Amino acid sequence: MHQFTRAIVRKPGKSFAKGITTSNLGKPSFELALEQHAAYREMLKQSGIDVIVLEADERYPDGCFVEDTAVVTNEAAIITRPGDPSRLGEEESILQTISKYKKIERITAPGNLEGGDILRVEKKFYIGITKRTNTEGANQLAQLLKKYGYTATQVPVKNILHLKTGIAYLGDNNFIGVDELKGIAQGKNMIKVEQSEEYSANCLRVNDNLIIPKGFPKSKSQIVSLGYNIIELEMSEFRKMDGGLTCLSLLF
Ligand code: GLY
Repeated sequence: MHQFTRAIVRKPGKSFAKGITTSNLGKPSFELALEQHAAYREMLKQSGIDVIVLEADERYPDGCFVEDTAVVTNEAAIITRPGDPSRLGEEESILQTISKYKKIERITAPGNLEGGDILRVEKKFYIGITKRTNTEGANQLAQLLKKYGYTATQVPVKNILHLKTGIAYLGDNNFIGVDELKGIAQGKNMIKVEQSEEYSANCLRVNDNLIIPKGFPKSKSQIVSLGYNIIELEMSEFRKMDGGLTCLSLLF
C-alpha cells in the first residue's frame, strides 16, 4: 500500500450546516464538527502524516470535504471541477496549496469530476460516473492518468452520492463495500456491508492504520478479523452532511 507523508485538510466553517445533504439526520453541531475534525487531524499525525491545515472558507459550506477537489498521484495533482455549482471554486485554494508540492494538471469544462468518485487500487483507478462526475470529466482524468502509467475504468454508480461512499480499498487485496459495487472487487476479498451499516463502507487506510467510523459493530467485527491496526473515529456531524472519512483529507 502506498505510504503517505502529507495531507491537506480544511476546517469546517460556521456555514457548514448550509452544505448539501440527503441524510435526514438533522442539523450538524458546528462545535462538535470542530472537535471531530481535530480528532481526525490527530489521527493523521499519529499515522505519520505532516498535516497542512487550511482555515475555513465561509463561501463554501462543503469546503471541509477537500478530497473532492483533487486527485493526487506521485507525479501530479489533478485539480478537479466539482459537479455541484455550490462547490465550484473550492478547488482554487487547494491548487494554491498543493502546487508547492506537486506538478498541476486540471479537469476542464465541460468535464465535471469529484475526488470522492475516484478509487485507487494500486496502479489502477476506478472512476464513478455519478451526478457529480460526468463521462467528459472521467475521460479527461483517464487520459491524464494514462500519461503517468496508470489505468482507469469507469463505473456507473446509481444509488449513492460518490463511488467511495460505497466502497473502500483497504490494501492487501481487501475491500469493503455495498453489493452494488462488488464487481470492482471481483476475484478479491470484499466485506459486504449491511444496508443498516452502509456508512461504514467509507474507510480510510493511512500508512499502517486503518481508520473506520465509530458505531458500526457488524462491519467492525469483520474488519477486525483482517488484522489491521484500527483507529475508530466518531463522524456523526460529517455524516449528517453526507461526508465520510476519506472526504476530509487529500493525502499524498
Ligand atoms: N455534502 C457533501 C457533498 O454533497 O458534496
